[in-house]
Amino acid sequence: MAATTVSGCPPKADGVKIAVVFHSDRGHVEKLARSVAAGAAQTSGATASLHSLNELTDPLWAALEAADAIILGCPTYMGGPSAVFKRFAEASLPIWARRGWTAKLAAGFTHSQAMSGDKLNTLEYFSILAAQHGMIWVNLDLLPGWCHEEASIDDLNRLGSWLGVMSQSDGDGPIETNPRTGDLATARHLGALVAATTRALAVGRAHIYADAGELVAAAAAR
Ligand SMILES: Cc1cc2nc3c(=O)[nH]c(=O)nc-3n(C[C@H](O)[C@H](O)[C@H](O)COP(=O)(O)O)c2cc1C
Repeated sequence: MAATTVSGCPPKADGVKIAVVFHSDRGHVEKLARSVAAGAAQTSGATASLHSLNELTDPLWAALEAADAIILGCPTYMGGPSAVFKRFAEASLPIWARRGWTAKLAAGFTHSQAMSGDKLNTLEYFSILAAQHGMIWVNLDLLPGWCHEEASIDDLNRLGSWLGVMSQSDGDGPIETNPRTGDLATARHLGALVAATTRALAVGRAHIYADAGELVAAAAAR
């Protein structure tokens, strides 16, 4: 008997797939999303795909079904996720009901105009959505910028977030020069971290399957 599921995921002999989903109206979140995807794609054994949430199409849902990790991004509007993102979250109800995203990895990023702007609420919402889906949340795991004597506004994680990437642009700033290079580098870090963690978990799961397969074969032979 072949072992086919551990925590709902099939073993991965090949590379892992990282899907980055985002809503962006003025382009700042889209630039972050591209940086997240670039960070994921530069990781050995991982590929990355980008998906706008403006249209909730069958190919979008199919790509998320096939993904090993889903990274969530949207602007912070009125202290929380944008309505376009919420529409996507609510449309995922049938997937939630059949536990379709269980054991995939998840992470998130957001952007707003104010330094705080209540971005934490958006990241918390992302992590709760991931929890409802039984996904495994990956934190940013970067010490806050501004914590050393040569601190710069272009430090990684200059806004000192732990749950995910926070990015900010004064008055949304021109898209050519915003978000800041440090924020984009922080987004690249998140993509690379999620891809590496997903890959490590996939390799570990493959070993567990192999062990489980041997145990099943040994039991059957007795
Ligand atoms: C309806 C609306 C609500 C907003 N609410 C906030 C907010 O609560 N906090 C904040 O700092 N910025 C707020 N903003 C600014 C957006 O966060 C900012 O325009 C967005 O992050 C830009 O991202 P984009 O270029 O990807 O669309 C709001 C903007 C809009 C249009």
